[in-house]
Amino acid sequence: MKPPNENLAPCLIVIFGASGDLTARKLIPSLYDLFVGGFMPAQTSVLGVARTAMSDDDFRTRMKDAVAKHSPGFDAKTWDSFAASLHYLAADPTAEAEYPRLKERMARIAKAHGTGENVLFYLSLAPQFYEPVIVNIGSHQMITEGKAWCSINRQERSWQRIIVEKPFGHDVESAAYLNRALGRVFEDESVFRIDHYLGKETVQNLLVFRFANAIFEPIWSRQYIDHVQVTAAETVGVESRGSYYASDSGGAMRDMIQSHLLQVMALVAMEPPVTMRAEDIRAETTKVLNAARILSEDEISACAVRGQYVAGSIAGQPVSGFKDEKGVPADSRAESYAALQVMIDTWRWNGVPFYLRSGKRMAKKTTEIVVEFKPTPHGLFGKGRGGPMANNQIVINVQPNEGIRLRFEGKVPGIGMKIRSVVMDFDYCRQFQAQPMEAYATLLLDAMRGDQTLFKQRQEIEQSWRIVQPVLAYWAEHTQEPLPVYPAGTWGPPAADILLAREGRQWRNPPPEVPESPVTLP
Ligand code: BG6
Repeated sequence: MKPPNENLAPCLIVIFGASGDLTARKLIPSLYDLFVGGFMPAQTSVLGVARTAMSDDDFRTRMKDAVAKHSPGFDAKTWDSFAASLHYLAADPTAEAEYPRLKERMARIAKAHGTGENVLFYLSLAPQFYEPVIVNIGSHQMITEGKAWCSINRQERSWQRIIVEKPFGHDVESAAYLNRALGRVFEDESVFRIDHYLGKETVQNLLVFRFANAIFEPIWSRQYIDHVQVTAAETVGVESRGSYYASDSGGAMRDMIQSHLLQVMALVAMEPPVTMRAEDIRAETTKVLNAARILSEDEISACAVRGQYVAGSIAGQPVSGFKDEKGVPADSRAESYAALQVMIDTWRWNGVPFYLRSGKRMAKKTTEIVVEFKPTPHGLFGKGRGGPMANNQIVINVQPNEGIRLRFEGKVPGIGMKIRSVVMDFDYCRQFQAQPMEAYATLLLDAMRGDQTLFKQRQEIEQSWRIVQPVLAYWAEHTQEPLPVYPAGTWGPPAADILLAREGRQWRNPPPEVPESPVTLP
């Protein structure tokens, strides 16, 4: 264990919804990793709040099992010192009457651990409970310094911040409503709208790749780029979330495209920011989202594809279909797969399609960004697309095998001019001899530091909803159309291939469930 970070003020982290899956799988393992790595002050404490009856010790035991499972650096001895900072309160956070008890418990922990008045609230609840909790925090005056202008002595300013999990609303109106509810209690600089994709190392590396190198930016435009693909494919099904996923607020378009993929697209397409300050970066990503063309009703069937998996097999194992998942009604029309073509109406991107796709139960777990370049203007060695030569590609692997791969054409050694695609490969782990940090660890630490760079602005969220809303409305209305399906373990419904094939393009589908090696890149 390293010595703790001296420059970071300790705080009390209050997790609402602490008996849930996210706390066990991501939040506590990430906090444990931060503790072991010495990234946060040792006084930092956690109070889990949920309705489930549990003592502090029950909570610690449950979290120990979770951390042993999810944190590769688990060590029983270190766990004991970390566990002392974990506390639990069985209470319904939506019930106003519970707050005096909550406040009293928070004060006791703060005193015992020396966290002062710094509090990081974490909303890890079902979204319908967000508003009552925010209102309760406000009405019980738990925000002593949330409003910047309240500070008398800015040097001694304590803080109270809130991290809000997705789903952030289920359409434009509900997202705007939630933003207003937050704004009534918290200053915007204290609101951290989390998107764990932004905490992924390779997504952050996009900024470095684009703006710390002179060679990519000049070709990063419609002049040289043919199209961009952003894929987030999963082999898992809906797991325990069948009923949420199949509900009117679920489906892949809301769950993945509206949130994570549009955000990744914005980082690929943004203009260079004036500085690396959060407000400058977020100003540029917001501009991209504002420039994304909103589809008219006539364009939707050509530019958006949905699908639902039926029984199939993944890595040789049979898996059942979406409708057989627990909690999914037999007549569900929720999409477990969605693809969307987005056009960004700016000087830089005019005419360059961004294809976004995400699905459950696909052939391989992979998240990647593919930037495909135009063919050479004059085909000295044969035709470009469709001919013997492939277009140049930059593939940014977000996960797994984090790295960046440049595909270009090379001469096969020997007599005659035979050309083949070859790959220059930057492998993140091999190069830096380090595993990327868990996204939640990065983001929790940033919130403790008050750095909003990797969190979303309210306008970005509302605009992302505006982009997908016409598609969602169209799908909700067109219930008579047959719903496209795809067998589990494939790359989605045929309509998704047609989306690209119409323009003579194709998805980059890495080979299913085998480690990628540079020479096998198609
Ligand atoms: C979440 C979605 O935001 O991201 C899940 O709600 C999805 O449905 C998950 O499984 C994927 O995250 P990752 O980090 O595994 O790509």
